[in-house]
Amino acid sequence: MEAVQLPASWSVDQILDDLDQHGFSIIDNAYDLTYVEQLIAECTDNLARFRDAAIQNGVVSNIRSDHILWLTEDLKISNQHVQTLHALGQELNRAFFLGIKDVEAHFAYYNAGEFYALHRDNPQGKNGRMISAVYYLHDQWQDDWGGELHLQDKNDQWHTLQPKPNRIAIFQSDLLHEVVKAKHQRLSITAWLRSDASLI
Ligand code: OGA
Ligand code: MN
Repeated sequence: MEAVQLPASWSVDQILDDLDQHGFSIIDNAYDLTYVEQLIAECTDNLARFRDAAIQNGVVSNIRSDHILWLTEDLKISNQHVQTLHALGQELNRAFFLGIKDVEAHFAYYNAGEFYALHRDNPQGKNGRMISAVYYLHDQWQDDWGGELHLQDKNDQWHTLQPKPNRIAIFQSDLLHEVVKAKHQRLSITAWLRSDASLI
């Protein structure tokens, strides 16, 4: 496959520095608006295919109430984002020797009242998830709509991050975080940069 470049607007030095100092980094205005529109369309056209994230192998958990759709290869637009994250993974490998080999991702929507309680994506290093990257793709978000990403950084400081459209929140997968109850429909792509082969 042809090597994918990171968008020119992304400051790799800043991302590496933030991750090194704080364990997380924020990219705003991540993509050009033509691509953003295509991404929103691909997500909203497929909403009927999403399933309850709380149900896994028939077991229901009460930690989350969002709905997800794993990104399979037929979802061409969102796969370009996944390719971009592969390129980011290579930069992270060069800087931090994380051994990232794969990226897995799903769309998610939270309807009003839905949430994801405090958790780590990779508790005690039990899986290959090294870095989480959450891209927000609703077309607007207001500060009083809830739905914030509440994240404890690597120095134990808490941050309240707004799910602003066209923003990517990148963080170490072992950090504690939650999605506060949203008051409006909240759309995202959650991706994990993994040091082992993806399960999807
Ligand atoms: C997750 C998650 C954060 C967000 O999907 O594991 O923590 O802001 N998402 O959507
Ligand atoms: Mn998470």
